[in-house]
Amino acid sequence: MRSVKKAAVWLFLAVERVLTAQIPLLPDYHEESLDFYSHFERSPRQWDLDEPHAVNATGNLVFETANSLLQHWANTRYRIGHTIIPGIVPVGTILYHGALSGPHIPTTPDWVAMEPEHSMVFCSGSVETGCWHVTFAVTRPMKVLYFDGSSAANIPEGTMDTQDLVAWSEMRPEWVDNEEQRIQDLCKWGLQNGINGLVRMEVNFEIMICNFTSHMEVISFSNLDSPRLKIGNVTDLPEDPNSVHHAFEIMHSTSWRENYPGETRIVLDYSALISFYDTDLVPSLMPRRVGLERWDHRVAGISPEDIERVEDRLAQVLERPPVTASGIDWKTVLRSVVDRYASRLDVMQYLTNITLDDTPVLLDRARKVQRQLRTMLAPYILLAALPPRDSVEVNATHSWAAPVFQGCATTHTSFIGTRGILTPSERLLLQAVQETSREICRVITRIWASGFIAGLDPLYPADQDIPADRIRTLMGEWKEDIARLMSWLDWSIWVKCRPACGVEEMCYLPTWPIGFFPPDHPFQAWNSASTPWPDPNEGEWKRPQPKCIRRLEPYGF
Ligand SMILES: *[C@@H]1O[C@H](CO)[C@@H](O)[C@H](O)[C@H]1NC(C)=O
Ligand SMILES: *[C@@H]1O[C@H](CO)[C@@H](O)[C@H](O)[C@H]1NC(C)=O
Ligand SMILES: *[C@@H]1O[C@H](CO)[C@@H](O)[C@H](O)[C@H]1NC(C)=O
Ligand SMILES: *[C@@H]1O[C@H](CO)[C@@H](O)[C@H](O)[C@H]1NC(C)=O
Ligand SMILES: *[C@@H]1O[C@H](CO)[C@@H](O)[C@H](O)[C@H]1NC(C)=O
Repeated sequence: MRSVKKAAVWLFLAVERVLTAQIPLLPDYHEESLDFYSHFERSPRQWDLDEPHAVNATGNLVFETANSLLQHWANTRYRIGHTIIPGIVPVGTILYHGALSGPHIPTTPDWVAMEPEHSMVFCSGSVETGCWHVTFAVTRPMKVLYFDGSSAANIPEGTMDTQDLVAWSEMRPEWVDNEEQRIQDLCKWGLQNGINGLVRMEVNFEIMICNFTSHMEVISFSNLDSPRLKIGNVTDLPEDPNSVHHAFEIMHSTSWRENYPGETRIVLDYSALISFYDTDLVPSLMPRRVGLERWDHRVAGISPEDIERVEDRLAQVLERPPVTASGIDWKTVLRSVVDRYASRLDVMQYLTNITLDDTPVLLDRARKVQRQLRTMLAPYILLAALPPRDSVEVNATHSWAAPVFQGCATTHTSFIGTRGILTPSERLLLQAVQETSREICRVITRIWASGFIAGLDPLYPADQDIPADRIRTLMGEWKEDIARLMSWLDWSIWVKCRPACGVEEMCYLPTWPIGFFPPDHPFQAWNSASTPWPDPNEGEWKRPQPKCIRRLEPYGF
């Protein structure tokens, strides 16, 4: 008993060491970031195919949120943001503003849209007077801060958490609709910190601009034919085809930013990313997530100490000259991993998703899975790692495949490990890529190794027929392993309309504000009159599921 307990304590200390490693301002990579592996190196289980990711590991969450930044689809699916990250709007970027108040450039903080479809909603005026619409060009790199998630959705379910924290150093649920106070206070903070814009997302991306003259110049300020949108007057809106059409065209313009590379007119600095899934920085949220599904993860509930730590980190990253980062293109590093595995895991899930009593089909499918695996793992299948033919008894641990696992799991990160300086944000991203790669490679190597031994590998086919019950058992295990892995990764790239939508349709996730308002609210009229007012805590409004909707008249959800 005593030695078991001692081992457990040791493991705890080792885990704790990884989780709480102090991060110096300019960390020396060689000493610090090898921690993740040195933890495993002290443990004989580092390349053990049966040793899954740590229970409370958040690498998968850091990975997928960082990989989804500025992409509309993933941030509509998971509305509650967990990332704050600075970026730049490059010189020459065109931004749009519909002037509600007539021909005046805002002199106080106000909003701009990335697309005119969005800004035209605010270009209001009668048929006689027309409306006023401004087009700006960015004249010098404009520093912005981006809040991920559906961060412009004014609902009390958590979409405002990270902004509350930056604006007020505490959660202010009573101000969920107080956009005026929010923009004033975020901009006051922003201007003190060299930030001229706050980037948020709802039906599309938008920027709160703090100073309209410091980084932009007017390209055109036009008195336009009024779009005559019935915004703010719902009397006959549901029947107003013009307004309904416009609402759908905003969503259409958003679909351009749905998936990778997302909104490219904002260039994020990943070396300054702050994640609320960072368990070093924000340990207080860890226990609050226990037992919750990802939809329900909140930033509210963060401890005052952690708020202070986040504020310090934010101040640090905003002060830091960019040259102190490694120069690594993290967006591409993350994407490379997704590219390699997303479609192949998807097809493997399809191949293993069959009933287990049809033996000829099972064998065919099992061989196809093995082909996928061999292709994925080929760069790491060392000749010397292969077990001698015929001498191998079935050994469930498949320890002979450890070098394959290791090669696969380290290929995207081992070079980064040799770089000099990484910022704390980069170390977090590195660890996220390491954890994610390790789990993917562990599962696929394990499946491949079991198929190899069974004689399913295309290059080493079995001499005799493989017993049907063996195939059945393997396929049953593979199906579970793949499902568990994909559910842990939870990549939004896999969430799509199946079957794909028709030409007159588009794939849609419930998107605030459409449908979120009571019948007498202007936005409610965008919804079809027959759909009831949804509760954001219920069903698909809480857990958005994709569906095909028409993108041409007649519209409807
Ligand atoms: C806005 O920027 C202009 C030009 O840089 C500057 O003159 C002005 O003082 C700024 N206004 C505020 C409120 O910071
Ligand atoms: C709303 O529109 C109706 C009919 O178009 C009009 O009679 C009414 O005055 C409008 N209400 C407001 C508040 O503008
Ligand atoms: C995971 O985190 C929760 C909350 O902090 C803790 O109670 C639990 O013991 C942790 N589990 C492991 C295996 O570390
Ligand atoms: C598995 O196949 C069934 C029947 O074709 C389908 O309904 C289900 O969505 C599939 N599951 C996955 C995870 O693809
Ligand atoms: C499986 O292989 C490992 C490593 O070679 C060995 O320690 C273990 O005893 C083997 N297990 C069986 C059941 O043969």
